[in-house]
Amino acid sequence: MKILGIETSCDETAASVIEDGDKLLSNAVSSSVDLHAAYGGVVPEIAARSHLEVILPVIDEALKTAKVSWQDIDTVSVTRGPGLGGSLLIGLMATRTLAITKNKPLYGVNHVTAHVYANFLTKTSLPGYKLPKNQPKFPLLALIVSGGHSQLVLFAQHLEYTVLGQTADDAVGEAFDKVAKLLGLPYPGGPSISEAAKDGDPNAVKLPKARLDNRYDFSFSGLKTAVLRATQEICGKAYDFPSTKLANLLNKQQKADIAASFQRVAIETLVRSVKAAAEEYGPASVVIAGGVAANHELRRQLAEALPQQIEYTDIKLCTDNAAMVAVLGYFMIQNNHPSVNSYALEINPGLRM
Ligand code: KG4
Ligand code: ZN
Repeated sequence: MKILGIETSCDETAASVIEDGDKLLSNAVSSSVDLHAAYGGVVPEIAARSHLEVILPVIDEALKTAKVSWQDIDTVSVTRGPGLGGSLLIGLMATRTLAITKNKPLYGVNHVTAHVYANFLTKTSLPGYKLPKNQPKFPLLALIVSGGHSQLVLFAQHLEYTVLGQTADDAVGEAFDKVAKLLGLPYPGGPSISEAAKDGDPNAVKLPKARLDNRYDFSFSGLKTAVLRATQEICGKAYDFPSTKLANLLNKQQKADIAASFQRVAIETLVRSVKAAAEEYGPASVVIAGGVAANHELRRQLAEALPQQIEYTDIKLCTDNAAMVAVLGYFMIQNNHPSVNSYALEINPGLRM
């Protein structure tokens, strides 16, 4: 069975064809990230306009790379939320129209759940992908960490889950992005921070770790403020000194030390929760998902902290992509979820797991 997935929830326009829930045939992604870099964050109007321009070419590319035509596609699957309203709308309306005109069953999926399902891809005909050898087993503990979400979720079975914990404030990716901005490092902040951190001392700056009532919840806003205060102190400036002027006062080594110290504490916060949940629930598999799952320090610390073997998927399948949307669609079919009415499916920007 071949599924076409379509994803437009943020600034990536993506389409992908997968086969039987485990094989990746194509993964077309067009990002408008360069257009947003000048603003230090995603501008919703620019993202939406960009989706409109590239959605059809991206879908064509996904079909072409997979060496399939519309006739070969059994089902289409699209992200219906959460995400930016304008961005979601373009992907969803394009997919609805195609599902109607090509006469294909349609599935609308949750973007955050879909991130987890990227880990089910174990085979590919594409060059340059490093995929896990085995599909995850249940019970499955999933750490979902992206620019918009930080959640720890326990799946008893496919599509049956309990949210064990989540962030009380910022998503961890958002904290990476904000600290990068403070240090004058390029957007998106996650890759910039981890690159800068390579030359830094992770113990150079003392930063607090938040303690919450639920040990599976996270908090990153206090850490972000602590980084700001530490930076003001390093620069010899008062707490009311504008944060936007600090980056110019830091040298490369100071930036590296702050980046490394922030990254260590942010990652330790996540790993502490995953370790506690793994001890309590004894999952058969643990996976990480979402943009921050690309972080090498997270991968290293988790592998060290967990008794179970942990397999990581390719970084190209951690950040936003449509393969994960297609895989989730596949498992909805396998688990007897009905397809939706292609004339009626609507976006849900605030959709939760
Ligand atoms: O999943 P994603 O592509 O989009 C959302 O659904 O949010 O995640 C994007 C987030 C951004 O905040 C970005 O800074 C972060 O993932 N990110 C990273 C890394 N690569 C991307 N964070 C830490 N380390 C990385 N290597
Ligand atoms: Zn995402």
